Amino acid sequence: MPTPDMRRAMAEAELGDDVFGEDPTINRLEQRAAELMGKEAAVFVASGTMGNLLGVLSLAHAGQEVIADADSHLFVSEGAGAAALGGVQVRQVPTAAGVMAAEQVRGAVRPTNDYHAPLTAAICVEDTHNRHGGVCWPLEALSAVRAVADEYGLAVHMDGARIFNAAVAQGVAPHEIASIADTVTFCISKGLGAPVGSVLCGSAEVIDRARRWRKAVGGGWREAGVLAAAGLWALDHMVDRLVDDHANARTLAEGLAELPGVSIDLSRVQTNIVRFELADMSASDFLAGCRERRVFGGGSGRAVRFVTHFGVEAADVQRALTACTEVLSAS
Ligand SMILES: Cc1ncc(COP(=O)(O)O)c(C=O)c1O
Repeated sequence: MPTPDMRRAMAEAELGDDVFGEDPTINRLEQRAAELMGKEAAVFVASGTMGNLLGVLSLAHAGQEVIADADSHLFVSEGAGAAALGGVQVRQVPTAAGVMAAEQVRGAVRPTNDYHAPLTAAICVEDTHNRHGGVCWPLEALSAVRAVADEYGLAVHMDGARIFNAAVAQGVAPHEIASIADTVTFCISKGLGAPVGSVLCGSAEVIDRARRWRKAVGGGWREAGVLAAAGLWALDHMVDRLVDDHANARTLAEGLAELPGVSIDLSRVQTNIVRFELADMSASDFLAGCRERRVFGGGSGRAVRFVTHFGVEAADVQRALTACTEVLSAS
């Protein structure tokens, strides 16, 4: 949720018509985002999904393929947008924790001398990895993927929806993580607390193509500087505090690990996401019990996801653990 100060910044934002490049606040956000990610240019978009869509469509053509891990948000949760709108298919690589090994990626690149095969255009990496519990890609693993991309002349798109969580957890600047990518998208919503928006960054040429696609999918907006102002405010005030979310996630995970019927891999709790499995209860029953106690999460089957974020304090984590204990003991 936006903070009162963020709302104030939104109310006071200087505005213009962004379709004509005339919204000064959006221009400032795009410039700031490009600098933070170490890229030439950036485009402000409505969502992480739109950032990924525009990234992929700007790097790959109809009939081509992009390689992504099988649990990537791009493949699982974005309505097959790249296929539906751009004719680009995703080649899925199964992984243990969302981090594709260079050998796996190399094995997924299609041969260029076989007319049966689609041509591979790009590799997509997700950092941090949502469905694998907020895991960060080790920087060496990212470099290894970049090396494969260079070997085959491929582009790299990074779904950095939570790249600031990765940067804070790994103690590096976001541009160090993004340096291996041709395009990177990050969300100002999610952990940074802005109400809406993501930014796609890359070379001036690729971002120009992305702007064309953004318009085509109805994402050319007008005085959206009110939203960009929230993003600028978030970049100034909400990044450093992500350590608190990570500490809270760790406390929550360690508390959950003590509860009977909960199975959790603590090594994956590296940022602000806590995923775990229930032995004796469905996620929907468990979450309904939690909801009655005003603790909110998501999940399906027996898998549950909790996320820590601005507004969730250490005391709330203890309250959540009490709620989980009650719900599990009532089952
Ligand atoms: C890794 C990742 N990428 C992209 C998205 C999409 O973001 P949005 O919900 O803003 O479309 C999400 C959303 O949860 C995500 O977790």
